[in-house]
Amino acid sequence: MNQFTFYNPVKLVFGKESLEQLNDMVKAYSNGNKVLLTYGGGSIKKTGLYDEVMEKLSDFEVFELAGIEPNPRVETVRKGVEIVKAHDIDFIVAVGGGSVIDGTKLIAAASKYDGDAWDIVTRKAQVNDAVPFGTVLTLSATGSEMNSGSVITNWETNEKLGWGSPLVFPKFSLLNPEVLYTLPEHQTVNGIIDSMSHLLEQYFNEADNTEVQDQMISGVLKTVMKTGPIAVKDPKNYEARETLMLSSTVALNGFLRLGYVGDWATHNLEHAVSAVYDIAHGAGLAILFPEWMRYVSKQSPARFVKFAEDVFNVEASLSDEDKINYAIDELQNFWTSLGAKQKLSDYGVNAEDLEAFADKTLIYGPFGNFYKLQREDILAIYKAAL
Ligand code: NZQ
Ligand code: ZN
Repeated sequence: MNQFTFYNPVKLVFGKESLEQLNDMVKAYSNGNKVLLTYGGGSIKKTGLYDEVMEKLSDFEVFELAGIEPNPRVETVRKGVEIVKAHDIDFIVAVGGGSVIDGTKLIAAASKYDGDAWDIVTRKAQVNDAVPFGTVLTLSATGSEMNSGSVITNWETNEKLGWGSPLVFPKFSLLNPEVLYTLPEHQTVNGIIDSMSHLLEQYFNEADNTEVQDQMISGVLKTVMKTGPIAVKDPKNYEARETLMLSSTVALNGFLRLGYVGDWATHNLEHAVSAVYDIAHGAGLAILFPEWMRYVSKQSPARFVKFAEDVFNVEASLSDEDKINYAIDELQNFWTSLGAKQKLSDYGVNAEDLEAFADKTLIYGPFGNFYKLQREDILAIYKAAL
Protein backbone atom coordinates (compact mmCIF):
# COMPACT_ATOMS: atom_id res chain seq x y z
CA MET A 1 0.00 0.00 0.00
CA ASN A 2 1.02 3.62 -0.29
CA GLN A 3 2.15 5.76 2.60
CA PHE A 4 -0.85 7.36 4.30
CA THR A 5 -2.03 9.65 7.06
CA PHE A 6 -5.47 9.03 8.46
CA TYR A 7 -7.39 11.93 9.99
CA ASN A 8 -11.05 12.07 10.91
CA PRO A 9 -12.10 14.49 13.65
CA VAL A 10 -15.89 13.87 13.60
CA LYS A 11 -17.37 12.97 16.96
CA LEU A 12 -19.84 10.21 16.09
CA VAL A 13 -22.70 9.54 18.51
CA PHE A 14 -24.59 6.41 17.50
CA GLY A 15 -27.75 4.91 19.01
CA LYS A 16 -31.36 5.46 20.02
CA GLU A 17 -30.60 8.22 22.51
CA SER A 18 -28.08 10.11 20.38
CA LEU A 19 -30.27 13.20 19.95
CA GLU A 20 -30.18 13.74 23.73
CA GLN A 21 -26.65 15.03 23.23
CA LEU A 22 -27.55 17.78 20.77
CA ASN A 23 -27.72 20.63 23.27
CA ASP A 24 -24.41 19.74 24.96
CA MET A 25 -22.68 19.21 21.64
CA VAL A 26 -23.72 22.57 20.21
CA LYS A 27 -22.62 24.27 23.44
CA ALA A 28 -19.29 22.50 23.27
CA TYR A 29 -18.51 23.51 19.70
CA SER A 30 -20.23 26.86 19.26
CA ASN A 31 -18.62 30.19 20.01
CA GLY A 32 -21.95 31.90 20.67
CA ASN A 33 -25.69 31.58 20.90
CA LYS A 34 -26.91 31.93 17.32
CA VAL A 35 -27.67 28.70 15.49
CA LEU A 36 -28.81 28.15 11.92
CA LEU A 37 -30.93 25.01 11.49
CA THR A 38 -30.78 23.63 7.95
CA TYR A 39 -33.11 20.96 6.59
CA GLY A 40 -34.77 19.66 3.44
CA GLY A 41 -38.24 19.67 1.97
CA GLY A 42 -40.15 18.98 5.14
CA SER A 43 -39.81 15.26 5.96
CA ILE A 44 -38.48 16.23 9.40
CA LYS A 45 -41.68 18.16 10.11
CA LYS A 46 -43.84 15.15 9.18
CA THR A 47 -41.80 12.74 11.27
CA GLY A 48 -41.69 14.94 14.35
CA LEU A 49 -37.91 15.20 14.35
CA TYR A 50 -38.11 18.97 13.78
CA ASP A 51 -39.99 19.47 17.07
CA GLU A 52 -37.53 17.29 18.96
CA VAL A 53 -34.56 19.18 17.53
CA MET A 54 -36.13 22.58 18.29
CA GLU A 55 -36.75 21.50 21.87
CA LYS A 56 -33.11 20.49 22.27
CA LEU A 57 -32.04 23.84 20.83
CA SER A 58 -34.28 25.90 23.09
CA ASP A 59 -31.27 27.54 24.80
CA PHE A 60 -30.21 29.05 21.48
CA GLU A 61 -31.50 31.72 19.15
CA VAL A 62 -32.45 29.56 16.15
CA PHE A 63 -32.65 30.76 12.53
CA GLU A 64 -33.85 28.38 9.81
CA LEU A 65 -33.06 27.48 6.23
CA ALA A 66 -35.64 25.02 4.94
CA GLY A 67 -35.86 23.50 1.49
CA ILE A 68 -32.39 22.19 0.72
CA GLU A 69 -33.20 19.98 -2.28
CA PRO A 70 -32.16 16.41 -3.01
CA ASN A 71 -29.13 17.06 -5.24
CA PRO A 72 -28.63 20.37 -3.34
CA ARG A 73 -28.56 23.53 -5.40
CA VAL A 74 -26.14 26.39 -5.16
CA GLU A 75 -29.02 28.94 -5.17
CA THR A 76 -30.29 27.50 -1.90
CA VAL A 77 -26.80 27.51 -0.46
CA ARG A 78 -26.55 31.21 -1.31
CA LYS A 79 -29.71 31.86 0.74
CA GLY A 80 -28.09 30.08 3.68
CA VAL A 81 -24.93 32.16 3.33
CA GLU A 82 -27.03 35.34 3.41
CA ILE A 83 -28.66 34.27 6.67
CA VAL A 84 -25.32 33.37 8.28
CA LYS A 85 -23.75 36.67 7.25
CA ALA A 86 -26.78 38.83 8.12
CA HIS A 87 -27.17 37.40 11.62
CA ASP A 88 -23.59 36.53 12.42
CA ILE A 89 -24.46 32.88 13.01
CA ASP A 90 -22.10 30.95 15.32
CA PHE A 91 -23.01 27.36 14.55
CA ILE A 92 -25.06 25.37 12.00
CA VAL A 93 -27.09 22.23 12.72
CA ALA A 94 -27.93 20.20 9.60
CA VAL A 95 -30.83 17.76 9.95
CA GLY A 96 -31.24 15.52 6.93
CA GLY A 97 -29.56 13.23 4.44
CA GLY A 98 -26.48 13.76 2.29
CA SER A 99 -28.06 16.65 0.41
CA VAL A 100 -28.78 18.75 3.50
CA ILE A 101 -25.35 17.98 4.92
CA ASP A 102 -23.55 18.71 1.64
CA GLY A 103 -25.45 21.99 1.22
CA THR A 104 -24.56 22.90 4.80
CA LYS A 105 -20.87 22.22 4.19
CA LEU A 106 -20.89 24.77 1.40
CA ILE A 107 -22.86 27.28 3.49
CA ALA A 108 -20.27 26.83 6.24
CA ALA A 109 -17.34 27.50 3.91
CA ALA A 110 -18.92 30.19 1.71
CA SER A 111 -20.04 32.20 4.74
CA LYS A 112 -16.38 32.88 5.45
CA TYR A 113 -15.67 33.90 1.87
CA ASP A 114 -16.42 37.24 0.21
CA GLY A 115 -17.18 35.93 -3.29
CA ASP A 116 -19.81 33.54 -4.62
CA ALA A 117 -20.28 30.04 -3.15
CA TRP A 118 -19.88 28.42 -6.59
CA ASP A 119 -16.23 29.60 -6.71
CA ILE A 120 -15.49 27.15 -3.91
CA VAL A 121 -17.13 24.25 -5.75
CA THR A 122 -15.23 25.01 -8.96
CA ARG A 123 -11.99 25.39 -6.95
CA LYS A 124 -11.52 29.01 -8.03
CA ALA A 125 -11.46 29.92 -4.37
CA GLN A 126 -9.71 28.08 -1.56
CA VAL A 127 -11.44 27.34 1.72
CA ASN A 128 -9.59 29.15 4.49
CA ASP A 129 -12.20 29.05 7.23
CA ALA A 130 -15.70 27.67 7.87
CA VAL A 131 -18.54 28.16 10.33
CA PRO A 132 -18.58 25.11 12.64
CA PHE A 133 -21.51 22.72 12.16
CA GLY A 134 -22.92 19.40 13.35
CA THR A 135 -25.40 16.97 11.82
CA VAL A 136 -28.41 14.87 12.74
CA LEU A 137 -28.50 12.20 10.03
CA THR A 138 -31.87 11.06 8.63
CA LEU A 139 -30.80 8.92 5.64
CA SER A 140 -28.00 6.37 5.59
CA ALA A 141 -26.23 6.51 2.23
CA THR A 142 -23.54 9.05 1.48
CA GLY A 143 -21.26 9.02 4.53
CA SER A 144 -21.31 12.83 4.38
CA GLU A 145 -21.95 12.83 8.14
CA MET A 146 -18.37 11.68 8.72
CA ASN A 147 -16.40 13.04 5.80
CA SER A 148 -15.26 16.37 4.40
CA GLY A 149 -16.73 16.06 0.88
CA SER A 150 -19.78 17.72 -0.64
CA VAL A 151 -21.54 17.55 -4.01
CA ILE A 152 -23.46 20.60 -5.29
CA THR A 153 -25.62 21.15 -8.37
CA ASN A 154 -25.82 24.32 -10.44
CA TRP A 155 -28.91 24.25 -12.66
CA GLU A 156 -27.86 27.41 -14.52
CA THR A 157 -24.82 25.63 -15.91
CA ASN A 158 -26.08 22.02 -15.55
CA GLU A 159 -23.10 21.06 -13.47
CA LYS A 160 -22.96 18.76 -10.47
CA LEU A 161 -19.53 18.90 -8.88
CA GLY A 162 -17.79 17.51 -5.85
CA TRP A 163 -15.46 19.54 -3.66
CA GLY A 164 -14.05 19.14 -0.18
CA SER A 165 -11.92 20.61 2.54
CA PRO A 166 -10.68 19.39 5.92
CA LEU A 167 -12.37 22.51 7.30
CA VAL A 168 -15.82 21.08 6.54
CA PHE A 169 -15.72 17.91 8.57
CA PRO A 170 -18.80 18.10 10.84
CA LYS A 171 -17.86 18.71 14.47
CA PHE A 172 -20.27 15.95 15.47
CA SER A 173 -22.89 13.69 13.91
CA LEU A 174 -25.79 12.17 15.80
CA LEU A 175 -27.04 8.89 14.32
CA ASN A 176 -30.22 7.23 15.57
CA PRO A 177 -31.19 4.24 13.38
CA GLU A 178 -34.87 4.68 14.37
CA VAL A 179 -34.95 7.93 12.37
CA LEU A 180 -34.62 5.79 9.22
CA TYR A 181 -37.98 4.05 9.80
CA THR A 182 -39.85 6.72 7.84
CA LEU A 183 -37.72 6.58 4.69
CA PRO A 184 -39.65 5.85 1.49
CA GLU A 185 -38.64 2.43 0.17
CA HIS A 186 -36.79 3.79 -2.87
CA GLN A 187 -34.64 6.02 -0.64
CA THR A 188 -33.65 3.03 1.47
CA VAL A 189 -32.74 1.23 -1.75
CA ASN A 190 -30.77 4.19 -3.13
CA GLY A 191 -28.89 4.38 0.15
CA ILE A 192 -27.94 0.70 -0.05
CA ILE A 193 -26.71 1.15 -3.62
CA ASP A 194 -24.76 4.31 -2.84
CA SER A 195 -22.99 2.85 0.17
CA MET A 196 -22.14 -0.30 -1.79
CA SER A 197 -20.82 1.87 -4.62
CA HIS A 198 -18.52 3.68 -2.20
CA LEU A 199 -17.14 0.32 -1.12
CA LEU A 200 -16.66 -0.72 -4.76
CA GLU A 201 -14.99 2.55 -5.75
CA GLN A 202 -12.41 1.92 -3.04
CA TYR A 203 -11.98 -1.80 -3.68
CA PHE A 204 -10.87 -1.00 -7.22
CA ASN A 205 -7.50 0.61 -6.59
CA GLU A 206 -3.98 0.10 -7.82
CA ALA A 207 -2.08 -0.31 -4.56
CA ASP A 208 -0.35 -3.58 -3.66
CA ASN A 209 -0.85 -5.60 -0.51
CA THR A 210 -4.17 -4.23 0.64
CA GLU A 211 -5.54 -7.48 2.07
CA VAL A 212 -6.72 -5.87 5.32
CA GLN A 213 -8.62 -3.19 3.41
CA ASP A 214 -9.91 -5.74 0.84
CA GLN A 215 -11.34 -7.94 3.56
CA MET A 216 -12.85 -5.02 5.47
CA ILE A 217 -14.53 -3.80 2.28
CA SER A 218 -15.71 -7.29 1.28
CA GLY A 219 -17.04 -7.86 4.79
CA VAL A 220 -19.07 -4.64 4.76
CA LEU A 221 -20.31 -5.34 1.20
CA LYS A 222 -21.51 -8.84 2.12
CA THR A 223 -23.14 -7.47 5.27
CA VAL A 224 -25.04 -4.80 3.33
CA MET A 225 -26.19 -7.40 0.79
CA LYS A 226 -27.47 -9.63 3.59
CA THR A 227 -29.10 -6.83 5.57
CA GLY A 228 -30.45 -4.52 2.86
CA PRO A 229 -33.39 -6.74 1.83
CA ILE A 230 -34.42 -7.10 5.50
CA ALA A 231 -34.72 -3.32 5.92
CA VAL A 232 -36.58 -2.98 2.61
CA LYS A 233 -39.14 -5.62 3.64
CA ASP A 234 -39.37 -4.58 7.27
CA PRO A 235 -38.55 -0.83 7.50
CA LYS A 236 -38.84 -0.77 11.30
CA ASN A 237 -36.35 -3.57 11.88
CA TYR A 238 -33.96 -1.84 14.28
CA GLU A 239 -31.05 -4.24 13.87
CA ALA A 240 -31.17 -3.99 10.07
CA ARG A 241 -31.33 -0.17 10.16
CA GLU A 242 -28.51 -0.08 12.70
CA THR A 243 -26.31 -2.28 10.52
CA LEU A 244 -27.01 -0.29 7.34
CA MET A 245 -26.45 3.05 9.07
CA LEU A 246 -23.07 2.03 10.42
CA SER A 247 -22.15 0.45 7.06
CA SER A 248 -22.81 3.61 5.07
CA THR A 249 -20.84 5.72 7.54
CA VAL A 250 -17.77 3.48 7.52
CA ALA A 251 -18.05 3.06 3.76
CA LEU A 252 -17.00 6.68 3.24
CA ASN A 253 -15.35 8.02 6.37
CA GLY A 254 -11.85 7.38 5.05
CA PHE A 255 -11.12 4.31 7.16
CA LEU A 256 -11.52 1.83 4.30
CA ARG A 257 -9.23 3.69 1.94
CA LEU A 258 -6.07 3.62 4.01
CA GLY A 259 -3.10 3.51 1.65
CA TYR A 260 -4.86 4.26 -1.65
CA VAL A 261 -7.40 6.61 -3.18
CA GLY A 262 -9.93 4.35 -4.91
CA ASP A 263 -11.14 4.63 -8.49
CA TRP A 264 -14.12 7.06 -8.31
CA ALA A 265 -14.75 7.14 -12.09
CA THR A 266 -18.29 5.82 -11.76
CA HIS A 267 -19.24 8.62 -9.38
CA ASN A 268 -18.04 11.13 -11.94
CA LEU A 269 -20.03 9.35 -14.66
CA GLU A 270 -23.14 9.45 -12.44
CA HIS A 271 -22.81 13.08 -11.39
CA ALA A 272 -22.78 14.11 -15.08
CA VAL A 273 -26.10 12.32 -15.59
CA SER A 274 -27.81 13.75 -12.52
CA ALA A 275 -26.56 17.23 -13.46
CA VAL A 276 -28.94 17.07 -16.43
CA TYR A 277 -31.64 14.61 -15.34
CA ASP A 278 -32.66 15.12 -11.73
CA ILE A 279 -32.39 11.43 -10.86
CA ALA A 280 -31.31 10.07 -7.49
CA HIS A 281 -27.59 9.42 -7.13
CA GLY A 282 -28.06 5.77 -6.07
CA ALA A 283 -30.43 5.11 -8.97
CA GLY A 284 -27.81 6.33 -11.46
CA LEU A 285 -25.04 4.31 -9.85
CA ALA A 286 -27.10 1.11 -10.03
CA ILE A 287 -27.06 1.46 -13.82
CA LEU A 288 -23.53 2.74 -14.37
CA PHE A 289 -21.49 0.64 -11.96
CA PRO A 290 -22.16 -2.74 -13.62
CA GLU A 291 -21.35 -1.22 -17.04
CA TRP A 292 -18.12 0.34 -15.74
CA MET A 293 -17.20 -3.09 -14.36
CA ARG A 294 -18.01 -4.90 -17.61
CA TYR A 295 -15.91 -2.44 -19.58
CA VAL A 296 -12.91 -2.08 -17.29
CA SER A 297 -12.72 -5.78 -16.38
CA LYS A 298 -11.89 -6.46 -20.03
CA GLN A 299 -8.91 -4.11 -19.83
CA SER A 300 -7.67 -5.00 -16.36
CA PRO A 301 -9.19 -8.32 -15.21
CA ALA A 302 -7.06 -9.48 -12.26
CA ARG A 303 -8.64 -7.27 -9.62
CA PHE A 304 -12.11 -8.28 -10.80
CA VAL A 305 -11.28 -11.96 -10.35
CA LYS A 306 -10.24 -11.23 -6.77
CA PHE A 307 -13.43 -9.23 -6.28
CA ALA A 308 -15.51 -12.20 -7.48
CA GLU A 309 -13.66 -14.47 -5.05
CA ASP A 310 -13.74 -12.10 -2.08
CA VAL A 311 -17.35 -11.00 -2.34
CA PHE A 312 -19.21 -13.70 -4.28
CA ASN A 313 -17.24 -16.80 -3.27
CA VAL A 314 -17.19 -17.95 -6.89
CA GLU A 315 -16.38 -21.55 -7.68
CA ALA A 316 -12.66 -22.07 -8.13
CA SER A 317 -13.24 -24.24 -11.21
CA LEU A 318 -14.72 -21.37 -13.25
CA SER A 319 -12.58 -19.52 -15.79
CA ASP A 320 -11.50 -15.99 -14.88
CA GLU A 321 -13.95 -14.59 -17.39
CA ASP A 322 -16.84 -16.60 -15.99
CA LYS A 323 -15.95 -15.56 -12.45
CA ILE A 324 -16.02 -11.90 -13.44
CA ASN A 325 -19.26 -12.16 -15.38
CA TYR A 326 -20.91 -14.07 -12.57
CA ALA A 327 -19.93 -11.44 -9.99
CA ILE A 328 -21.09 -8.49 -12.07
CA ASP A 329 -24.40 -10.17 -12.93
CA GLU A 330 -24.99 -11.08 -9.28
CA LEU A 331 -24.33 -7.49 -8.22
CA GLN A 332 -26.70 -6.07 -10.81
CA ASN A 333 -29.35 -8.70 -10.07
CA PHE A 334 -29.14 -7.82 -6.40
CA TRP A 335 -29.80 -4.16 -7.09
CA THR A 336 -32.59 -5.02 -9.55
CA SER A 337 -34.19 -7.29 -6.95
CA LEU A 338 -34.47 -4.23 -4.69
CA GLY A 339 -36.23 -2.26 -7.43
CA ALA A 340 -33.35 -0.45 -9.18
CA LYS A 341 -33.62 0.16 -12.89
CA GLN A 342 -30.97 -1.12 -15.31
CA LYS A 343 -30.96 1.45 -18.11
CA LEU A 344 -30.51 5.22 -18.37
CA SER A 345 -33.31 5.29 -20.94
CA ASP A 346 -35.68 4.26 -18.12
CA TYR A 347 -35.15 7.85 -16.89
CA GLY A 348 -35.64 9.48 -20.29
CA VAL A 349 -31.96 9.75 -21.21
CA ASN A 350 -31.38 9.42 -24.96
CA ALA A 351 -28.41 8.84 -27.24
CA GLU A 352 -28.04 12.56 -28.04
CA ASP A 353 -27.27 13.28 -24.36
CA LEU A 354 -24.18 11.10 -24.16
CA GLU A 355 -21.62 13.47 -25.71
CA ALA A 356 -22.72 16.23 -23.34
CA PHE A 357 -22.39 13.89 -20.36
CA ALA A 358 -18.87 12.98 -21.54
CA ASP A 359 -17.95 16.70 -21.78
CA LYS A 360 -19.06 17.22 -18.19
CA THR A 361 -17.09 14.27 -16.86
CA LEU A 362 -13.93 15.51 -18.55
CA ILE A 363 -13.75 19.03 -17.10
CA TYR A 364 -10.68 18.05 -15.08
CA GLY A 365 -9.39 15.69 -17.83
CA PRO A 366 -9.39 11.87 -18.12
CA PHE A 367 -10.31 10.28 -14.77
CA GLY A 368 -10.35 7.07 -12.74
CA ASN A 369 -7.49 6.09 -10.45
CA PHE A 370 -7.75 2.34 -11.07
CA TYR A 371 -8.34 2.64 -14.79
CA LYS A 372 -8.09 6.03 -16.47
CA LEU A 373 -11.09 6.64 -18.74
CA GLN A 374 -10.59 8.54 -21.99
CA ARG A 375 -13.44 9.98 -24.01
CA GLU A 376 -13.99 6.81 -26.07
CA ASP A 377 -14.10 4.67 -22.90
CA ILE A 378 -16.62 7.02 -21.31
CA LEU A 379 -18.89 6.96 -24.35
CA ALA A 380 -18.68 3.18 -24.57
CA ILE A 381 -19.80 2.85 -20.93
CA TYR A 382 -22.65 5.35 -21.38
CA LYS A 383 -23.79 3.57 -24.55
CA ALA A 384 -23.84 0.21 -22.79
CA ALA A 385 -25.87 1.82 -19.96
CA LEU A 386 -28.38 3.48 -22.29
O1 NZQ B 1 -35.96 16.85 1.77
P1 NZQ B 1 -36.74 16.02 2.72
O2 NZQ B 1 -38.15 16.41 2.83
O3 NZQ B 1 -36.07 15.93 4.08
O4 NZQ B 1 -36.78 14.52 2.11
C1 NZQ B 1 -35.62 13.77 1.83
C2 NZQ B 1 -35.29 13.77 0.35
O5 NZQ B 1 -36.41 14.01 -0.44
C3 NZQ B 1 -35.92 12.32 2.11
N1 NZQ B 1 -35.60 11.92 3.49
C4 NZQ B 1 -34.41 12.02 4.11
N2 NZQ B 1 -34.49 11.46 5.34
C5 NZQ B 1 -35.76 11.01 5.48
C6 NZQ B 1 -36.48 11.32 4.32
N3 NZQ B 1 -37.78 10.99 4.16
C7 NZQ B 1 -38.39 10.38 5.18
N4 NZQ B 1 -37.75 10.02 6.33
C8 NZQ B 1 -36.44 10.33 6.52
N5 NZQ B 1 -35.80 9.93 7.63
O6 NZQ B 1 -35.05 11.61 1.24
C9 NZQ B 1 -34.84 12.36 0.06
C10 NZQ B 1 -33.42 12.23 -0.42
O7 NZQ B 1 -32.53 12.85 0.49
P2 NZQ B 1 -31.01 13.16 0.08
O8 NZQ B 1 -30.38 13.86 1.21
O9 NZQ B 1 -30.98 13.79 -1.26
O10 NZQ B 1 -30.40 11.69 -0.11
P3 NZQ B 1 -28.92 11.18 0.09
O11 NZQ B 1 -28.56 11.09 1.52
O12 NZQ B 1 -28.85 9.94 -0.71
O13 NZQ B 1 -27.98 12.31 -0.55
C11 NZQ B 1 -27.77 12.38 -1.93
C12 NZQ B 1 -26.83 13.51 -2.28
O14 NZQ B 1 -25.51 13.31 -1.71
C13 NZQ B 1 -24.52 13.35 -2.75
C14 NZQ B 1 -25.30 12.88 -3.96
O15 NZQ B 1 -24.65 13.19 -5.17
C15 NZQ B 1 -26.62 13.60 -3.78
O16 NZQ B 1 -26.51 14.94 -4.20
N6 NZQ B 1 -23.35 12.57 -2.35
C16 NZQ B 1 -22.59 13.07 -1.35
C17 NZQ B 1 -21.42 12.43 -0.94
C18 NZQ B 1 -20.60 12.97 0.16
N7 NZQ B 1 -20.85 14.17 0.63
O17 NZQ B 1 -19.66 12.35 0.62
C19 NZQ B 1 -20.94 11.23 -1.59
C20 NZQ B 1 -21.98 10.54 -2.39
O18 NZQ B 1 -21.33 9.71 -3.30
C21 NZQ B 1 -22.94 11.43 -3.11
O19 NZQ B 1 -22.41 11.88 -4.34
ZN1 ZN C 1 -22.08 8.04 -3.82
